Amino acid sequence: MRQTVTIPPAEIDRQLALCDQIHTLLEDRPGQKLAFVDTYGCQQNEADSERLRGYLARMGYAFSDTEEGADLVLLNTCAVREHAEQRVFGNVGALSHTKRRHPGQIICVCGCMARQEHVVERLKKSFPYVDLVFGPQLLWQFPELLLKKMTEGKRVFAAGDEIGTVAEGIPTVRQNRLKGWVSIMYGCNNFCTYCIVPYVRGRERSRQPQEILDEVRSLVDAGYKDITLLGQNVNSYGKDLDLGVDFAWLLEQVNAIPGEFLIRFMTSHPKDAGPRLFDAMAACEKVAPVLHLPFQSGSSRVLKAMNRGYTREHYLELIAQLRQRIPNIVLTSDVIVGFPGETQEEFEETLSLIEAVRYDALFTFIFSPRRGTPAAKLPDPMPKEQKSANFQRLLRRQNEISGEKHQAYIGKDGLLTARTDGGRLIHLKADPSCIGTWQQAKITGASTWALFGELA
Ligand code: SAM
Ligand code: SF4
Ligand code: F3S
Repeated sequence: MRQTVTIPPAEIDRQLALCDQIHTLLEDRPGQKLAFVDTYGCQQNEADSERLRGYLARMGYAFSDTEEGADLVLLNTCAVREHAEQRVFGNVGALSHTKRRHPGQIICVCGCMARQEHVVERLKKSFPYVDLVFGPQLLWQFPELLLKKMTEGKRVFAAGDEIGTVAEGIPTVRQNRLKGWVSIMYGCNNFCTYCIVPYVRGRERSRQPQEILDEVRSLVDAGYKDITLLGQNVNSYGKDLDLGVDFAWLLEQVNAIPGEFLIRFMTSHPKDAGPRLFDAMAACEKVAPVLHLPFQSGSSRVLKAMNRGYTREHYLELIAQLRQRIPNIVLTSDVIVGFPGETQEEFEETLSLIEAVRYDALFTFIFSPRRGTPAAKLPDPMPKEQKSANFQRLLRRQNEISGEKHQAYIGKDGLLTARTDGGRLIHLKADPSCIGTWQQAKITGASTWALFGELA
């Protein structure tokens, strides 16, 4: 049953009117008001920050790239690993000094960390100068929460629930004029045992196809060349909509939008990806020949403990089906080293999987226990040093593979911007007038990290 709460358009109009009210309040104070938005974590957060900036612009703020001297600082946080959280707490700590030098400064913390009770408690107790804290499900209400802080003077803490909302009509200020993020859905239902995302982002909910298509159309009209469709598991797009639509259908619809642009998407979950998606990718000429398909572990036993819903064999079968249809596919993936209980033999299975698949690039993580997730309670006997050594071995081997794969580009022509159509970074000899256009290029060199080339 569909539980998504769609925010009525009149509510967003009300938020926009509150932006105008804040605008009037700010006009009473001298000088241009500056806001600094600091984004952590994934592209979903980048996309959310663009909407937060949209609201801020409507309130009359201009943007600064530093917290020093900013009238408003907004930290859009990530909770996916311990390291991300520590960085945020470190930076919130440092803000006590900037605020002392600029006493009127308003400090806001939002995003995935702000949806966790223990984080909110810590912010309440140990960081008394943080003014406003709100979870990702309440992004649409930012103007109202900020105005409350501004007019009542008290600190504001708001979390939102797990069902989650879909809100349309929030303005955006985008960071890039060529590459546009488009969220097609929010939240996650998969509950991989290591992952905090479903707890902080709420249940899976899809945007209406018409809203997505209108947004892509307006980006293409504005000259965007590279559109990335975003969701934690884009392959379950539409399941909650009762419209009989799915992600492959959506790709076809986006592909049919007139204009010269590339379509990318992330993230795909192997349990929901398959021939229907691969066929659509092959058939849609605007869809870049690139797929990010996280495997997380090469061991079927560990995958089961992770609640991933597929085996090593099924994953490898998917890769074979994909390569059969799109032989030049650029493949990237995520992998976790040191999941609780992972044995040395099971780690070797992860190594053998990357050997078998030969990814173009791999995002490697050491397991980080997240409070409230099942995996955080599992016995974890492997010493840190051994996990770290395994991690380094995996990284070294992948770097060699990426380097070897890049060598294979030498002498080949491709359709290039500063990235190839497959998303590989290329250092290209070309005039700046080429920015934002597609050019044929000759690849003349390659390193582990990038390709080198010139206009053909
Ligand atoms: N929804 C996507 C998926 O299923 O692949 C991405 C989710 S997460 C934002 C990005 C990556 O972070 C995951 O693919 C996983 O490799 C990693 N990750 C998530 N939780 C983690 C944890 N507790 N420790 C280490 N890595 C983690
Ligand atoms: Fe996390 Fe798994 Fe959902 Fe990805 S699919 S966001 S890894 S729970
Ligand atoms: Fe982090 Fe939240 Fe994204 S936890 S990775 S910002 S969904």
